[in-house]
Amino acid sequence: MSRPDGWVEDEAARAEALKRVIAVVNEKGGVGKTSITGNLAGQAASAGYRVLVVDLNRQANLAQDLGYRHKPEVDDEGAELLTAIMTGQPMTPMKDIRPNLDVIPGGTQLENLTGVMLTRIQNYGETAFLSLAKVLAPTAADYDLVIIDCPPENTILDDLALGAARWVLIPTKSDDGGVEGMRLVAQRFVKARKINPSIGLLGVVLFATGTTSTQIHAQVREKVAAAFGGQSPMFQTLIRHSERVAVDSRKGRLAHELEQAAKDQPQWWQALREGKRIERVSPTAASVSSDYQALAVEVLSVLATAEQEATV
Ligand SMILES: Nc1ncnc2c1ncn2[C@@H]1O[C@H](COP(=O)(O)OP(=O)(O)O)[C@@H](O)[C@H]1O
Ligand SMILES: [Mg+2]
Repeated sequence: MSRPDGWVEDEAARAEALKRVIAVVNEKGGVGKTSITGNLAGQAASAGYRVLVVDLNRQANLAQDLGYRHKPEVDDEGAELLTAIMTGQPMTPMKDIRPNLDVIPGGTQLENLTGVMLTRIQNYGETAFLSLAKVLAPTAADYDLVIIDCPPENTILDDLALGAARWVLIPTKSDDGGVEGMRLVAQRFVKARKINPSIGLLGVVLFATGTTSTQIHAQVREKVAAAFGGQSPMFQTLIRHSERVAVDSRKGRLAHELEQAAKDQPQWWQALREGKRIERVSPTAASVSSDYQALAVEVLSVLATAEQEATV
């Protein structure tokens, strides 16, 4: 059977190229997948890591968070990603969305991807879910970190991401919906292991939670442990709830950029005195930004430790 050109077929070479690929996944929507993808990528990029984000979402909220929605030179609505998977040609990322941060955009073009995958599953069986892995490998090798933002309630595209990921990061809210979505990911993870033996669980991140709700945090920790057979792979870092950040997100600025904008804006009385009406940026983004920074440190140290252990 003929295979698309450009696929990296060799499993060891592929695993090496994909060793810093993280899939951010939860079957449930609204649990922070896109916010965490964007902010983790932004934090790592501003710390000097070369970062690539792959957006597997038809809705492409990431384009809003990073501010490239409808910018024709960047926002191809998922065309590059779809074409790469269909033809097997390596993909060309959209460069420098921020310093050190490149993107493979998602969007409406991805509606066709599920159909393409169904045909491929008929032809190749489970190994069809390696389609993204094979085509991402040559590109991923150029980056220190590759983060895949996965869609909710689309097991085909989630399995495609799990076929390409070395690591799985699962955001959840403390409610039962998020935890149930996380349990479903745990099941898909076991399935993905058959075609992608390198895959590992990076951890679970509690998103948009009260910083003082320690009892609730403990309950979620128990549920997470139950879903993963005893150990709780929950990150120390929590992303705190902020109504302000929720309102200000989807407008092209990440939490640390909102923080910077709040610092840079003129004093409120200056604007008043000059008779200007300007929209003020709230400084409350600073605490959420520090959560993302702490998460980036935790994630990057887990990766570094795992790589050190692999070379011993
Ligand atoms: N720190 C925060 N606290 C509360 N809500 C937030 C915070 N950050 C983002 N949000 C909001 O949470 C919603 C869901 O987040 P999102 O990252 O889109 O989840 P998913 O990708 O899992 O669907 C968004 O509407 C966003 O505005
Ligand atoms: Mg999302």
